[in-house]
Amino acid sequence: MTYLQLDGLNKRYGDINVVESVSLTVEQGEFVSLLGPSGCGKTTTLQMIAGFTEPTRGRILLEGRDVTRVPPEKRGMGIVFQSYALFPHMTVAENISFGLEMQGMGAADRKRRIGETLELVRLGGLGDRYPRNLSGGQRQRVAIARALAIRPKVLLLDEPMSNLDAKLREEMHVELRNIQKTLGITTILVTHDQVEAMTMSDRIAVMFGGELVQVSTPFDAYEKPESAFASGFLGKTNRIDGRVTVRNDRCCEVQSGTLSMKIPHNNRACPEAVQIYVRPEKIRLVSPEESRMTSTVSARMFLGSHWALEVDGDLGRLRISVPNVGVPPPQEGEPVHLGWQDDDMRILAHEANHG
Ligand SMILES: Nc1ncnc2c1ncn2[C@@H]1O[C@H](COP(=O)(O)OP(=O)(O)O)[C@@H](O)[C@H]1O
Ligand SMILES: [Mg+2]
Repeated sequence: MTYLQLDGLNKRYGDINVVESVSLTVEQGEFVSLLGPSGCGKTTTLQMIAGFTEPTRGRILLEGRDVTRVPPEKRGMGIVFQSYALFPHMTVAENISFGLEMQGMGAADRKRRIGETLELVRLGGLGDRYPRNLSGGQRQRVAIARALAIRPKVLLLDEPMSNLDAKLREEMHVELRNIQKTLGITTILVTHDQVEAMTMSDRIAVMFGGELVQVSTPFDAYEKPESAFASGFLGKTNRIDGRVTVRNDRCCEVQSGTLSMKIPHNNRACPEAVQIYVRPEKIRLVSPEESRMTSTVSARMFLGSHWALEVDGDLGRLRISVPNVGVPPPQEGEPVHLGWQDDDMRILAHEANHG
């Protein structure tokens, strides 16, 4: 059964719809991310789910019950905001206790619950500290503990890791995902960080201009983007202009420069003007016999796990990612033969560039 349902949510400020017809169903225990650039309406959507912002139109259902007009404190949601504002004059334990007292939990139960929750976020024994005596990462975990302690029906996270440095953020991704799975807690994360969304989510809802443009598993979001925006926002991609010459049962024949390519159309309509998308890691350096085209290396960068190449050829400039297997690839100015599979390409209707 659907656990949380957003049904045609709309939010209008003045004469601008900042959130438009957002519909999404979330299963119990599922981790769903709202992923999109700054200003696309993620926080507004989350605030509507939390109950702090009233939708202009649409409904929110929790366990089949319409909660659209239910006040935030009666929705049973745990919330962690970007600025994890802890009460500075309260200890860690008191911070966590606050929500439990609001729920009317007795002192003995509160003590046990605080202890359990601190263990869960690996802060056991730090209950008596004050927030100012904690590191950024620890404070952030207290904020998560505070949200989790009340055993919320849904955990709502708004860019909770954005104040942490990169390494700590990566650790928190794994840790938070483990906690979420252990508790089986339904979670919605708002983020503009595609790596964060991909590492933690069961599904990603890609948002652009107030609308959900794609809802899918992280793998499908990356491998089968349904829009130019989704393709460009999740990871790097090469975009090549092309013209459809023939459409068969399974493929379109697409012409670009001097190259003709057969590209699966996955039963989507193909207009004549299309863009071809191919990920940098799908293009391989191959032998002349396997070559689809020859290009010249124009830039070569070493990134440890892989090399990033830029090559110039018949399709214009392409980015290529070559795994580091111990042998450096050809240098700037040298020719390379490039190969990739038909299935590695996607075609989408020609769209204006939105990065
Ligand atoms: N209270 C408000 N009044 C007017 N405009 C708002 C208000 N809150 C948000 N907005 C606008 O709505 C858009 C979406 O904001 P927001 O949901 O915060 O985006 P995101 O979280 O994706 O960065 C932005 O253009 C923002 O300026
Ligand atoms: Mg936001």
